[in-house]
Amino acid sequence: MKFASIQSRREEIADILKACRSRTLDLFTDIDSETFCKQAHPDFSPVGWHLGHIAFTEAYWILESCMGLPPLLPQYRTLFAADGLPKSQRQFLPSFEVIYEYLDTVRTQVLSYLETAPLEKQERLWRWLIQHESQHSEIIAFILQLRRWNRNGFYTRLNFSQSSIVNPPSPSPEMVEIPAGECEMGYDAIAAQDNERPTHQVYLDTYWLDRYPVTCAQYREFMAAGGYQNERFWSVQGWKWLEANPVCVPLYWSDSSDWDNHPVCGVSWYEAQAYARFVGKRLPTEAEWEKAASWNAQNSQKSLYPWGNSAPNPKLCNHNCLVGHTTPVNAYLAGQSAYGCCDMLGNVWEWTDSWFAGYEGFQPYPYRGYSQTYFDTKHRVLRGGSWATRSWAMRSSFRNWYHPGVRQILAGFRCAR
Ligand code: AVJ
Ligand code: FE
Repeated sequence: MKFASIQSRREEIADILKACRSRTLDLFTDIDSETFCKQAHPDFSPVGWHLGHIAFTEAYWILESCMGLPPLLPQYRTLFAADGLPKSQRQFLPSFEVIYEYLDTVRTQVLSYLETAPLEKQERLWRWLIQHESQHSEIIAFILQLRRWNRNGFYTRLNFSQSSIVNPPSPSPEMVEIPAGECEMGYDAIAAQDNERPTHQVYLDTYWLDRYPVTCAQYREFMAAGGYQNERFWSVQGWKWLEANPVCVPLYWSDSSDWDNHPVCGVSWYEAQAYARFVGKRLPTEAEWEKAASWNAQNSQKSLYPWGNSAPNPKLCNHNCLVGHTTPVNAYLAGQSAYGCCDMLGNVWEWTDSWFAGYEGFQPYPYRGYSQTYFDTKHRVLRGGSWATRSWAMRSSFRNWYHPGVRQILAGFRCAR
């Protein structure tokens, strides 16, 4: 019995590795060499670097650490390790064909090793590796979105009449009441990231949370009211950020009313905070966000996803680059949480008020620099995932983190009170 279940997990891991890789490679179907090698933004490495880094990481953890093999291509350590070169020096890359070959060579050995690998000891590492590629795959999608936008204004080129998404009626700007009580926070299954552990009980007083992410129509009111010109909506840090980064619309903004019911996308944490202050609300803490997404007060149970424990699919949320852009915030009512919050997973990442920090009893895995290095009160937590988030790294307990000034990550927000 034990053997059979290990065997089926082996097969499941192999299947996911292949599915994830095919989604990653989809992003490169018609990429030119300049897009492959050049930085689209100083905060981002070139997409070709991410591709090489995915292969390097797999080779490092499986071929070197587990199998004890010497480095396949020692010169790739400097080029493709996360702590190798500064981002600006990652532009001198082998061609797509050469990196593809590297990915493939590593993958062939990895899959053949997986057939007999001691999974009892290694399953956590394999599950981590899947989520590592998933996250880089999403970052590649962020960069391609930014590049399309910089080149020709991506949204204006989308043809809505040909899109399969029907525009539902306007969402009403409702809030949901979440009554006081205990809930469980975190995740401790084999696939949990170090920063999701350990699970723990949290007591929260009654609060209200927006049923939907803030839409473009709502955000337009903030802009029309001089949101970007009025210091009083901004925190001291936020106003400083705005002075240093003089913007007056979100990064992925369109004036067309076609986008009215879509979530605002491409805002920094400071802009989210200023909007919340404008409407007399605030950003939720990550505990407030997670409770609204995953807790069922009827049976005192936590679910992995807002809709329950079944895997994400295209009817439940906008993820995995299946649509290729945002969707109206009320387009996925089937995916709502027990409290009735919609669009919690997919569409846009949602800024929370919380600094990224370890839960009590945190243990780093698989290396200190994966999460712990960022417990520095310089990174804010985002929850939920975007339209580009891979299903293997998307769940109610999943934590993402970025500097509060970052805008090019497909992030929006919802407010609490
Ligand atoms: C969680 C997306 C911020 O990109 O630095 C990838 C994920 N960590 N490789 C990042 C990650 C190591 C991480 N983020
Ligand atoms: Fe990485």
